[in-house]
Amino acid sequence: MPASPPPASSEPSRRRILVLNGPNLNLLGQREPDVYGHATLADIGALLEARASELGLQVECRQSNHEGVLLDWLQRAEAEGFAAVLLNAGAYTHTSIALLDAIRAIALPVIEVHLSDPAKREEFRHLSYVGMAAVDTVQGLGAQSYVVALERAAAL
Ligand code: DQA
Repeated sequence: MPASPPPASSEPSRRRILVLNGPNLNLLGQREPDVYGHATLADIGALLEARASELGLQVECRQSNHEGVLLDWLQRAEAEGFAAVLLNAGAYTHTSIALLDAIRAIALPVIEVHLSDPAKREEFRHLSYVGMAAVDTVQGLGAQSYVVALERAAAL
């Protein structure tokens, strides 16, 4: 008898969470470790994958230094099948009305993430355009900020 094809998966498909990282976050691990810690973006990705599988979620992590690329990813996230977005927009957090508009324009919930606590740093970091539209913010916990944000996304 020919081998039967694998059965269509009976597992419910896991909710997919998109994790977007903005400028300079590709340098984590070597960038100002006293502020951002020693974990690299790959380490954070591994932490998120592990927690996601415990939560029955799937994560996809991306990074770009370009504002327009982040905008494109936000705009496409729903059509790509994501249920929520975790966004560390780096310095664009404090400058980008375009990111604010994009978050308002899309239906998906966006959770703002920061390794450091911008509110305790220079005054120019106190304003967050991302935070004006995000459903939640997790900051100041180092790499753990991403994990807590993922847990909040799981609860949405
Ligand atoms: C950051 C905080 C921002 O102010 C800064 O520009 C970053 C990183 C954080 O994760 O703590 O690039 O978003």
